[in-house]
Amino acid sequence: MTGSDGSSAPLKVLVFAASLRAESLNRRLAALAARVAAGSGATVDLATMRDFDVPSYDGDVEASSGIPAGAEELRRRLAGSDAFIVASPEYNASMPGQLKNLIDWTSRFRPQPFDGRHGLLLSASPSLAGGNRGLWALRMPLEHLGARIFPDMFSLAMAHKAFAGDDLADPALKARFEKTLESFLSLAEAAKHYPCMKRAWVEFLGEPPGVGADRVDPVPQ
Ligand SMILES: Cc1cc2nc3c(=O)[nH]c(=O)nc-3n(C[C@H](O)[C@H](O)[C@H](O)COP(=O)(O)O)c2cc1C
Repeated sequence: MTGSDGSSAPLKVLVFAASLRAESLNRRLAALAARVAAGSGATVDLATMRDFDVPSYDGDVEASSGIPAGAEELRRRLAGSDAFIVASPEYNASMPGQLKNLIDWTSRFRPQPFDGRHGLLLSASPSLAGGNRGLWALRMPLEHLGARIFPDMFSLAMAHKAFAGDDLADPALKARFEKTLESFLSLAEAAKHYPCMKRAWVEFLGEPPGVGADRVDPVPQ
């Protein structure tokens, strides 16, 4: 796509799975998403959750030592991307604790790194629901932080049986996966090249402005 400024720089997309397991199904799905995105012309940064290793959030540690390197690494790689894709396991009908912890640490940077960034949520699970409930939980903090989370999500059910090599075995499912990715990438690309949409104001419910609510970015003037 050529932008209104005449540029046609490829879309840069950060992709990672929120599982530490070497044999992770979500890692396989993230790797597939990375290949599809690269095939559609995007420049892909494929990360792993180990790149973003952080201790449990502790306000005292933050005050004494600052924000840890793993969160700084996510901040840096988000800043270098136009959009991000996360493939997240579902743990007990929610997102993995380590992913929420990483989001919490990363949300402490100013400017706040998720604000205004386009995101697509994927999940893979051996269950019939494919981990989809976890994505609704994940959507909440990300949207709270101002990320533009794509309305469609893709959850791979019976994921332990769904792959044929590196690809999805079922042709209809494969087509749906690719369509979801392409729709997301088109939107992110339009936002990159045609940044004409007015920034939405994100409301942090119940928090008056002031130093006491220091996790809130000031509303741009
Ligand atoms: C603590 C824990 C809780 C889990 N809870 C769910 C769940 O609520 N729903 C689900 O579909 N799978 C659940 N699972 C199974 C995971 O979906 C499965 O282990 C999956 O393979 C994890 O993702 P990964 O392969 O990317 O590591 C749970 C697994 C663990 C370890």
